[in-house]
Amino acid sequence: MIATGAWKDLVFKPYNYNSMGTLPEGGHLHPLLKVRAQIRQIFLEMGFTEMPTNNYVESSFWNFDALFQPQQHPAREAHDTFFLSEPALSHQFPRDYLEQVKRVHSRGGFGSQGYGYEWQEEEAQKNLLRTHTTAVSARMLYKLAKEGFRPAKYFSIDRVFRNEELDATHLAEFQQVEGVIADHNLTLGNLIGVLSEFFKKMGMDQLRFKPAYNPYTEPSMEIFSYHNGLGKWIEVGNSGVFRPEMLLPMGLPEDVNVIAWGLSLERPTMIKYGIDNIRDLVGPRVDLQMVYDNPICRLDKEPTIEDKARSVEDTWQLLSFQVERMKNEIRRLHSLVNQSRHIICVDPSTPPYSLLVLLRLVKSFASKTVSVETNLHSALPLLSSYFNYYLSTDSRDTQHGKGSADFNFSFVWKQSGEVKLSFCSSQRDIVGEVNVCRYLARIAEENSSTLTLYERKGEVKSSQIDECVDIIHSLLTTSNREKQSDLLKRVDKLLVASPFITGSSVSVADICLWSAINQLSDIDIIPLNIRKFFVRCCNHPWFAPHLSLN
Ligand code: PHE
Repeated sequence: MIATGAWKDLVFKPYNYNSMGTLPEGGHLHPLLKVRAQIRQIFLEMGFTEMPTNNYVESSFWNFDALFQPQQHPAREAHDTFFLSEPALSHQFPRDYLEQVKRVHSRGGFGSQGYGYEWQEEEAQKNLLRTHTTAVSARMLYKLAKEGFRPAKYFSIDRVFRNEELDATHLAEFQQVEGVIADHNLTLGNLIGVLSEFFKKMGMDQLRFKPAYNPYTEPSMEIFSYHNGLGKWIEVGNSGVFRPEMLLPMGLPEDVNVIAWGLSLERPTMIKYGIDNIRDLVGPRVDLQMVYDNPICRLDKEPTIEDKARSVEDTWQLLSFQVERMKNEIRRLHSLVNQSRHIICVDPSTPPYSLLVLLRLVKSFASKTVSVETNLHSALPLLSSYFNYYLSTDSRDTQHGKGSADFNFSFVWKQSGEVKLSFCSSQRDIVGEVNVCRYLARIAEENSSTLTLYERKGEVKSSQIDECVDIIHSLLTTSNREKQSDLLKRVDKLLVASPFITGSSVSVADICLWSAINQLSDIDIIPLNIRKFFVRCCNHPWFAPHLSLN
């Protein structure tokens, strides 16, 4: 009509967009089949191959013995397993392999002690309705070993049977989902990784693993997933790394590990479709209208707004938890630093007299205990005994054993240039006399309620102190007379207006200056105000070690 243009002369009935379409009369998939199709799709996406599970009847050999499940195991009793009466026994087994299985059960091998009982072939011959699809996994792994090992990923979703007490969530049969991966050097980490991926694809991204026991896996883990709708953690599967006692008799290479897991198909289906009695899902009571009405299965892979909000909250909680941990760690390190030994390396050619003053201040003013250890140095008898005398004669030293005070200082004489303070913890060294002084001044202030030496003098004064201390640092580290003289002149100006650098009381800068003057080889270059300052210091109790500081 379009080609001939005939449509132009015809009258068409308008479309009725409001009319209902007719429902196609056809089959409707049972919810289990819908979920099954989804899970199958997940396995296929992940590169798994489906195992042939078309044999509900299995021998005890493959269902139990091959899996290193002892013949006395309670699961092998008639009240747990359906045994067949016709035919009752199987007779065809791979002979060599059967001998290996027998050996590993009764006498051990491959590094295992075995179970130490008389393994009976008659027991293994008994036919049963398979209790798990792991029987098929065992067959497949044996086949893999026989054909020459190559890495493999298998899955199955099929029926298994257990002689269980029937209740709202248990029937005597169910569909088992099983995944198996065989490769070189697989670990529990691989298993957790694969399970996370697998369950994420099922819409379960919050997983927890709990140690469990299976005769054929070690380690084994139960898998739990948090269900938002139910608001709780529910068990969703069982998993593990197959034991060498199971794999090595098959002839698999020693470095091959096999990780596997299993779950039921009914459980996720019941949760998904909100069915709370298994009899409404499987068996004669199933309401066909339910099958007819229930929607297609779409596993929730996209997080909902609630999921996102929850994950933000989780992240927040995790972060605050970590912050708390870090705070504790900092506190711990702090106390470690405070209590640890301080090792101070000092060069006898430039004895840091400032440290004598500051350590005595820490000792006298701090509410904490301080111990100072200065060893006598045979090559430096005079200097070392001088330090020793002024630092170690305090009676408070005898109150505590070596290293047990709140602050422990040890002097090490070393011809190595700059003064260096090392901590026994991982904290970085403090290098240079003035920097060690700054550190000690802080400790002195922190542990006394009255002492003002440095930062407690206030922001303005402490920055003035810092400036001066930097000049003194240059003075201590240069041997150039001109430069020394210049630096001294700069400091001298600071002393024009006040007895000490920042006013009428001593600061850490004064202590550094006093020490530097003591170390100067040429006293002729010392300007007038500094000379006066030096005399003042000599009359000040802090600088005169023989006087009591208090
Ligand atoms: N066969 C186990 C069961 O029936 C599931 C499982 C499979 C566990 C593979 C570990 C490894 O529950």
